[in-house]
Amino acid sequence: MSEARRRLLGGLAPASFLARHWQKEALRVAAALPGFTGPLDLPRLKRLAARDDVESRLVVRERSAWTLRHGPLRAADFRGLPATGWSLLVQGVNRHEPACDALLRHFAFVPYARLDDVMVSYAVAGGGVGPHVDNYDVFLLQGFGRRRWRYGRQDDAKFRPGLPLRILRRFAPSHDRVFGPGDMLYLPPEWGHDGVALEPCTTYSIGFRAATAQELAIAFLDFMRDEVDLAGRYADPGLRPTTKPARIPDAMVRRVAAMLRALRWDDALVRRFLGRMLSEPKPIVVFDPPRAPLAPAEFRRRVAQRGLALDARTLMLYDDAAIHVNGEPVERAAGDAALLRLADQRALPARDCRRLGPAALRLLHRWYADGYLAPAD
Ligand code: SIN
Ligand code: CO
Repeated sequence: MSEARRRLLGGLAPASFLARHWQKEALRVAAALPGFTGPLDLPRLKRLAARDDVESRLVVRERSAWTLRHGPLRAADFRGLPATGWSLLVQGVNRHEPACDALLRHFAFVPYARLDDVMVSYAVAGGGVGPHVDNYDVFLLQGFGRRRWRYGRQDDAKFRPGLPLRILRRFAPSHDRVFGPGDMLYLPPEWGHDGVALEPCTTYSIGFRAATAQELAIAFLDFMRDEVDLAGRYADPGLRPTTKPARIPDAMVRRVAAMLRALRWDDALVRRFLGRMLSEPKPIVVFDPPRAPLAPAEFRRRVAQRGLALDARTLMLYDDAAIHVNGEPVERAAGDAALLRLADQRALPARDCRRLGPAALRLLHRWYADGYLAPAD
């Protein structure tokens, strides 16, 4: 294992980090990425926050009063801000900034199926979002400037009422440390944390999703709506006369319950559901298909010379049966190893592109025309 990978996790190999810390215990890593100050500055973050395909928030704290403004944020939103105590948060920067997308590769020892996105916060001195808990695992990587993090296990997850942000009613942190450029804090879900900027600074939050059982169930039922294909129709050849015509017959309840018991699912269906759900882009995501796409033959020549790369917005996952690209399944076929490599590495070198078969090339050309990938520069 490389020295850089070991340093990222404070000297731990990924297996030890996962066994000791993941979902269990916080980890502070000094100089996780030595020399890292982050690729984004305030002007760039403001430009991203102005876009309507980017989620952003502006949080201002004046003593105990908090205000929250949601993006898109224009220049006027930043006028008249106090000198201290505010923070701009921009979600999903990995979809727009190749350097932030590249950051994610450091964490590829965790399945992409768990990955959410990278959020960047910029804060002036005193800025932050207050003590809170998140329900996902997160790596908080410090860009330029310093931030004081107080954090610890949180027994009481109740929030203060009447605020626009979820701020913990009681917060008793067990750790209190200052983080400088390149330092990183891993926090398991539900740990209380409060990061306050000591000076203008940025923090990169690499978040990992974990759905609740209820969210999974609702999404699964939605998926099932298109999948379900039950035979038969309600029938009551033995119907008897009633004197209470408004009453729903017990026999009807029993028969319908029996019909519904035919709703079944197995691991194969759950696999398809997960592939669809996990590779579905967020509603805010919009792709930019090429205006004048290369014809298939030209595309083949180009990728054979330069290789290709997934667009940073593309979600590509696979399982034993299918490859899922942005919510669309494609059945696995013999000889699709290069497509799996593309999913894992998010790019395919020219050498591999030269060996692609016609079926894989047709697929790749379709995804290219949809803006899901492009020949490398
Ligand atoms: C921040 O960067 O200010 C907040 C990140 C977090 O607490 O999750
Ligand atoms: Co948080």
